[in-house]
Amino acid sequence: MNQTTTKLFEPVTIGAWELRTRTAMAPLTRCFADDETGEVGPDVVEYYRKRAADGIGLIITEGIIISPLAKGYPRVSGLYTQSQVEAWKKVTDAVHAEGGKIIAQIWHVGRISHKGMTGGLAPQAPSAIKAEGIAARSKKPYDEPKEMSSEEIQEVIKQFSQAARNAISAGFDGVEIHGAHGYLIDQFNSEITNTRTDRYGGDLSQRLTFMKEVIAAVIDVVGVDRTLVRFSAHKVDNVDYMWEEPEKAVETFIEAFKEVGLKMIHPSILNFNRILENNMNLYELVRKYWDGFIFGVGDLDIETAEDALNKEIIDVAVFGRPLISNPVFLKKVRNGEELEPYIGKVHLKTLV
Ligand SMILES: Cc1cc2nc3c(=O)[nH]c(=O)nc-3n(C[C@H](O)[C@H](O)[C@H](O)COP(=O)(O)O)c2cc1C
Repeated sequence: MNQTTTKLFEPVTIGAWELRTRTAMAPLTRCFADDETGEVGPDVVEYYRKRAADGIGLIITEGIIISPLAKGYPRVSGLYTQSQVEAWKKVTDAVHAEGGKIIAQIWHVGRISHKGMTGGLAPQAPSAIKAEGIAARSKKPYDEPKEMSSEEIQEVIKQFSQAARNAISAGFDGVEIHGAHGYLIDQFNSEITNTRTDRYGGDLSQRLTFMKEVIAAVIDVVGVDRTLVRFSAHKVDNVDYMWEEPEKAVETFIEAFKEVGLKMIHPSILNFNRILENNMNLYELVRKYWDGFIFGVGDLDIETAEDALNKEIIDVAVFGRPLISNPVFLKKVRNGEELEPYIGKVHLKTLV
């Protein structure tokens, strides 16, 4: 370890998690599960075990769907059947045996789907507004979603809390609620996808109602010390999207998080250093309003991560693509070895 990476390798307690280092593995959908059953197999056990053995502080899993209608990509895993829970138990056991910690990212894609993924049913969304473009991996156009009724909204909130309960049964140390990137929760959050006139629609603070209800339901089940929430401006179907007034939006999100008593958040952006407003990046804006734990991500290099940790802008540095291409990422960083670049186009399974 060299002088410049002292903070990154420091142990830290974040909520209920005693982490060996101030690092986390970002949630990364890899589509390694059985497409029919949504169960993960031995290759996934080995994939996560290796990252835990390397000493990463916290593993946040790939997005794990909470119901059959939550599915937008082939071969994603689930946490809504007993056999899926049992399959994930093998992963959490392996990670714990290596001294690691692992939380499940619970996920509903909403309208970012088509009938080929959802058993012939229209995808669920806040409003019946179709996403533009073609679904990644399955290469099919998105289908027009069905506007969710109040009953359907309550049902999906229950599915989130049941998935959280299942995550604990599967041995996970907690959950991350996927409220980012243009998926269901973010569809409620965004003015582009949410034109509802009931209490789930309106101005930003009103549109955050669904997210707040999901968070409250999940906290009820797993506890506030085991609940992390991810949110973002950018969307998988609109990567350039940014809030019109970033600081105001951040402030509104933080108000909502405080209202439900949340302690840890994971704001997501593609480029950590991007200046959004008043010469501040996303994390500086968030820190201005939030004194809880912050997970920071977005093309982070080691120097930027170390600097942001030292300045207490973030509490944990999160790495995504470098952990796909480097199963022994931290060891290489410690030894000053060169990292393998991430090559998006190769068959990712070979990089397990
Ligand atoms: C292959 C791939 C799959 C991803 N899957 C997810 C996911 O399931 N859930 C999520 O919140 N973000 C997902 N992301 C975004 C990452 O978590 C992360 O925010 C992004 O890659 C930026 O971090 P990085 O620059 O360190 O890779 C994915 C990114 C990649 C490259």
